[in-house]
Amino acid sequence: MSLSVEQVNQLKAAPVEGMLPVLAKRWSPRSFKETPISTNDLKIILEAARWAASSANEQPWRFLVGVKGSETHNKIFECLVGANQGWASKPHVLILGAAALKDAKGNPNRYAVYDLGQAAVSLIAQATALGIASHSMGGFDHAAARRAFNLNDDYAIGAVIALGYQDEPSALPTEQLQQREVSPRQRKRLSQVALIELDKPFEI
Ligand SMILES: Cc1cc2nc3c(=O)[nH]c(=O)nc-3n(C[C@H](O)[C@H](O)[C@H](O)COP(=O)(O)O)c2cc1C
Repeated sequence: MSLSVEQVNQLKAAPVEGMLPVLAKRWSPRSFKETPISTNDLKIILEAARWAASSANEQPWRFLVGVKGSETHNKIFECLVGANQGWASKPHVLILGAAALKDAKGNPNRYAVYDLGQAAVSLIAQATALGIASHSMGGFDHAAARRAFNLNDDYAIGAVIALGYQDEPSALPTEQLQQREVSPRQRKRLSQVALIELDKPFEI
């Protein structure tokens, strides 16, 4: 049975009453259209990341933004593992996140990676609110990405984030990808992650 974008999104939404819609609706599709994201929407998405909180307001996140057709996009795409290249050629934007590990005074910033993650969540939530789907990827050659963008040890590498407009599962090129697109989302139980001690759940 082939599902529409709306049907698959209904299937994938987190079934939690009261959760913010952008959080409940976000999931990581692999079926994307080639439809461009407008410059205005992309700016709002990047602004959402810019306005995230950070330790000592260091704002250690750096987002290397690759719009399809650009050299930055080509460089990011070339670093992706084959399994990701199999679907990630369609989304209009690929973003490589990095975190500056030293603060303005040259001292270690222990929260740089945490802050990059926070900014990435804002970016993704804003994209979701604008009807733009996202898919983070750790499956890329980190050493190649460092070389491509001159990222020395003063930077931690985050994930690549694909942004674009979602397509139907049937638009994916293989049966396996189509299956994964409609499979149920898995989560640990709340009692495994909300705790009062590492081995004791927070009862709620
Ligand atoms: C840091 C990070 C790395 C990921 N790497 C990949 C990847 O290389 N390829 C892929 O297809 N999905 C990747 N994902 C997507 C996860 O598999 C997905 O987020 C997870 O299964 C939960 O599903 P959901 O995002 O739909 O809730 C990654 C997600 C994150 C946050």
